[in-house]
Amino acid sequence: MGRGLHVAVVGATGAVGQQMLKTLEDRNFEIETLTLLSSKRSAGTKVTFKGEEYTVQEAVPESFEGVHIALFSAGGSVSQSLAPEAVKRGAIVIDNTSAFRMDENTPLVVPEVNEGDLHKHNGIIANPNCSTIQMVAALEPIRKAYGLQKVIVSTYQAVSGAGNEAAKELYSQTKAILNNEPAEPSIMPVKGDKKHYQIAFNAIPQIDKFQDNGYTFEEMKMINETKKIMHMPKLEVAATCVRLPIETGHSESVYIELDRDDATVEDIKQLLKEAPGVTLQDDPAEQLYPMPADCVGKRDVFVGRIRKDLDRANGFHLWVVSDNLLKGAAWNSVQIAESLQKLNLV
Ligand SMILES: NC(=O)c1ccc[n+]([C@@H]2O[C@H](COP(=O)([O-])OP(=O)(O)OC[C@H]3O[C@@H](n4cnc5c(N)ncnc54)[C@H](OP(=O)(O)O)[C@@H]3O)[C@@H](O)[C@H]2O)c1
Repeated sequence: MGRGLHVAVVGATGAVGQQMLKTLEDRNFEIETLTLLSSKRSAGTKVTFKGEEYTVQEAVPESFEGVHIALFSAGGSVSQSLAPEAVKRGAIVIDNTSAFRMDENTPLVVPEVNEGDLHKHNGIIANPNCSTIQMVAALEPIRKAYGLQKVIVSTYQAVSGAGNEAAKELYSQTKAILNNEPAEPSIMPVKGDKKHYQIAFNAIPQIDKFQDNGYTFEEMKMINETKKIMHMPKLEVAATCVRLPIETGHSESVYIELDRDDATVEDIKQLLKEAPGVTLQDDPAEQLYPMPADCVGKRDVFVGRIRKDLDRANGFHLWVVSDNLLKGAAWNSVQIAESLQKLNLV
């Protein structure tokens, strides 16, 4: 890896921020100076990175002086206000929020799919939505070989996708219910929305706010981001996003229609076996298929249950699982940072 960099992690105390630090450590990403940032609330918190203790500071515009790469995961409004300040000071921002994803001057990158888009960056690079990342990583090798016309996805998403507080609520509610105590929901489905519902022992078909067209923002993120990342504005995409009482690991049932109708299940399996960042886990005879409990802490996207549609020769069904905090967030961001180094863009 190249020269040691000054890296800032914004949201270092959060669910994604913590995984960001772990991933930088696991990848032995060469860091000369590390700046850890949060809101005022957590400023002063001590965090250990590679055996050294760091003190988290409140994020302010001046925090980015001398920073080469700033990894943001502190919510959209923080990115809106501080990412341009970081860029002004010479940093490249890799942003995990939805703030800049659909901005036409901002590349939206999953390295296995569109690493080349990094050349067009203007200071900010957006990390896609967690459920979008794992889906496009699994679909890209199939698209390359057989073309892609249509995608219909239903998600089974973990609570950690809504942050640390949501994950804690799943545990406290489950405990309360098992003890026959009241379990007041306060976060799910959307913090600050009109109504909250129990997530323990439940399934909530709402992730993020409803839009005027009846889809949720999470569903629209999957639809719009998939088209942008795959450079396919005309691709037909539909999504239904559901939150389940799982701590970490998003699963997706994905139906696709290809341009060609000559692909077999074996062809698709072979493509995925060779695809970067993808692990094929598909053997019905051995009851082998991906599950969220098995993917926690792993960087790959896991694919199984591959079946040809019974009515359409160009239709296939897949089951796609990944750790939403890793490939869905921290790992994809660190991977972008590694790509920037590889391409001499930082
Ligand atoms: N969780 C996922 O799977 C996932 C995946 C992709 C993208 N994302 C996105 O990443 C972002 C963070 O998600 P998360 O799950 O890590 O949330 P989280 O666990 O709630 O953590 C939020 C982090 O942001 C910090 N923060 C909050 N307000 C701030 C402010 N005004 N200035 C500076 N820092 C501030 C918090 O610091 P304090 O400790 O001081 O509160 C904390 O470190 C969100 O935009 C989310 O949509 C999440």
